[in-house]
Amino acid sequence: MSTLPALIASATMNPTASQRKKVTTSSFRQKKERGEPITMLTAYDYPTALAEDQAGIDSILVGDSLGMVVLGYQNTLPVTMEDMLHHARAVSRGSKYALLIGDMPFMSYQVSTEQAVRNAGRFLQEAGMEAVKLEGGRERAEAIRAIVGAGIPVMGHLGLTPQSINQMGGFRPQGKTASAAKRLLEDSLILEDAGCFSLVLESVPARLAELISKKLSIPTIGIGAGLGCDGQVLVTHDLLGLFERFTPRFVKKYADFHAEMQNAFTEYISDVQGRSFPAAEHTVEMDDSEWQAFQKTIDKN
Ligand code: KIV
Repeated sequence: MSTLPALIASATMNPTASQRKKVTTSSFRQKKERGEPITMLTAYDYPTALAEDQAGIDSILVGDSLGMVVLGYQNTLPVTMEDMLHHARAVSRGSKYALLIGDMPFMSYQVSTEQAVRNAGRFLQEAGMEAVKLEGGRERAEAIRAIVGAGIPVMGHLGLTPQSINQMGGFRPQGKTASAAKRLLEDSLILEDAGCFSLVLESVPARLAELISKKLSIPTIGIGAGLGCDGQVLVTHDLLGLFERFTPRFVKKYADFHAEMQNAFTEYISDVQGRSFPAAEHTVEMDDSEWQAFQKTIDKN
């Protein structure tokens, strides 16, 4: 067990751990003002949220990407509010410090402003989230104003917006022509004006993302949008090498957990087939005297 002086020494050596504060939407803005990159990752379950939170991540997004990387759908369109709330609840149990953001799924905010506010509220009321994210530009300004008006922080999402793949003709980079870039810049200013506290820029040219980041006072979080954004986000299953179907160009794989899992499963199968698992240390024992007494009771019958 650690002594008090040892605990004090380790806290002094590791000031980040000892001075850690809950991350809020204000911390996001302060980080931008100080020029400190904001870190964000997705999580969909308790153990991942716990590991990310303990590693010191600023924010956890319960992304609707869970439809593809956890539930096995071809895209994010089938994901429902109930799916999102179920996973968001697990994430909120695992996280203490990170700002928790729930991703509003397809058709949970597009039908009416009232529906958008109600569903945004469910993330906070029923799933422990502290903010919501939704996709789209000027066409979402009214819903964003209403959600923010209800006291719920909103993160915007522009560029490649996966809920619109049918309109975009697939998962393609956005903002690559002069007119598309102009529209993206206009949309980002509209979203800031509507009250977003932050904005995800997905798969847009790095120089455009940098310019937008400089024009906005709210922080931008990039995914496939270069170093000029105020922060970065990745889908955790991509980063860990857990999603095998495809890897977007902008992903850096920090591990190959799919291969690790396969190795572990293959070893387990071989241990069971070869009767080397369970070994003595994995087995419950019983005193000989109790065993003999038990056998006598059977012999009597
Ligand atoms: O759903 C998601 O994970 C996202 C991120 C890619 C930003 O929207």
